Amino acid sequence: MQAGAQYKSRHYLIHLTLNIEYFKDMKITVFGSGYVGLVTGTCLAEVGNDVLCMDIDQDKIEQLKNGKIPIYEPGLENLVKENHEAGRLNFTTDVGVAVKHGLFQFIAVGTPPDEDGSADLQYVLAVARSIADNMENYKIVIDKSTVPVGTADTVRETIKSVLTARSQEIEFDVVSNPEFLKEGAAIDDFMKPDRIVIGTDNPRTTELLKALYSPFNRNHDRIIAMDIRSAELTKYAANSMLATKISFMNELANLAEYLDADIEQVRHGIGSDSRIGYSFIYPGCGYGGSCFPKDVKALERTAQEVGYSAGLLTAVERVNDRQKEVLFNKINKHFNTDLTGKIFALWGLAFKPNTDDMRDAPSRVLLEALINAGASVQAYDPEAMDEARRIYHDEDKLILADSAEAALENADALCIVTEWKIFWSPDFEEMKSRLKQPLIFDGRNLYEPDVMRSLGYKYISIGRN
Ligand SMILES: NC(=O)c1ccc[n+]([C@@H]2O[C@H](COP(=O)([O-])OP(=O)(O)OC[C@H]3O[C@@H](n4cnc5c(N)ncnc54)[C@H](O)[C@@H]3O)[C@@H](O)[C@H]2O)c1
Repeated sequence: MQAGAQYKSRHYLIHLTLNIEYFKDMKITVFGSGYVGLVTGTCLAEVGNDVLCMDIDQDKIEQLKNGKIPIYEPGLENLVKENHEAGRLNFTTDVGVAVKHGLFQFIAVGTPPDEDGSADLQYVLAVARSIADNMENYKIVIDKSTVPVGTADTVRETIKSVLTARSQEIEFDVVSNPEFLKEGAAIDDFMKPDRIVIGTDNPRTTELLKALYSPFNRNHDRIIAMDIRSAELTKYAANSMLATKISFMNELANLAEYLDADIEQVRHGIGSDSRIGYSFIYPGCGYGGSCFPKDVKALERTAQEVGYSAGLLTAVERVNDRQKEVLFNKINKHFNTDLTGKIFALWGLAFKPNTDDMRDAPSRVLLEALINAGASVQAYDPEAMDEARRIYHDEDKLILADSAEAALENADALCIVTEWKIFWSPDFEEMKSRLKQPLIFDGRNLYEPDVMRSLGYKYISIGRN
């Protein structure tokens, strides 16, 4: 059938008639109440939908029912509270109730890297099985988790085989609707998205998804409808492109040090080119978080599986792994490879500002390397202290300080790993009285080298001599 012809067909008219029935009952279930699931559920409730969030983590669900949110995300706590109190946002661990609730069944569970770097789909497929075990009528199953190309087919086959085993013939659709929100700005990103990618193979489902997203699509059309496999690939393409920009800049920063050039001046020089732009070209001590590292790896692995060697992705990952060690190498060199007994203040534990997420954070590589080399670390982060306590509760060489200033007390140097706003303009004179010596290793280039020198600091940053 030619593109467009299907819209005139009797088949499509029947589907449109069905839509009217579905529009009456646009309830939503979201599986997974983490960074993506909780934001998705809350924002969909905020525009008036009846949303039920399901998670297997009982503790998390209890906290949410009591108006507490288990993660730090600016603005989220109030929205959760308001919508929960208004009765539009509810929480459950009961999978049967969850499946019964929504016409739309969002899958927003984790897809961590498997041992070989591929995305581990066990959680996604467990949800698919739960939906199939419990569904009694038509459902739209929406992959919001970041999943490799072909996952929608696997989800569809999984549901089909369970329904067959149940001797049930129930209609369902599977949609790819990848999420592009940024931790730290997640509410704004969801409410005012750059784009809403909808991958479907059924025009009726596209219409229903458009209706669901219409409150977020009023200013101009942000919906990009495409086929399912392209939608799945779009998410990996976006994250890999951003990771590539960062690794490219870090490669250049290292080169600038050899060439006695200043990478910050180079950054301005190239960012002014509208084809390049200023975003995502900050040099630093590597990217981390729950997405870029695992998504670059997973795409590389996908390429391998189809017999394609994605050399650029391999390089992006290698450059990033190396960059996470740059700060330690500078410190080690400065102290003539003898860090035994030294104390380092560490500002920033989260992988980026405005989140408490420490997954794959550069801070972890640095603090573990310092401790392995015989040093101890006094760390401070405005939001990630609980997360650090959870991860490093057995590590007695890591002291979690009560404030940025307290972390400096008697330290041989300060290391900066996350560019939280409160680190941008500290009282450098007061800092000198706390540090053993005025020495800063800055993995985010927060300060001007000339100014630091004039203040009497030895200041070592990235890509600048
Ligand atoms: N974090 C981000 O910034 C971001 C942005 C875009 C896309 N993504 C993608 O979204 C997905 C989720 O990421 P996240 O950061 O929200 O993960 P997360 O680890 O914060 O949350 C996942 C949640 O799923 C729950 N879960 C696991 N199995 C379940 C099941 N069978 N039923 C119900 N709940 C279950 C877990 O208990 C957990 O609460 C991943 O694929 C990720 O790559 C993340």
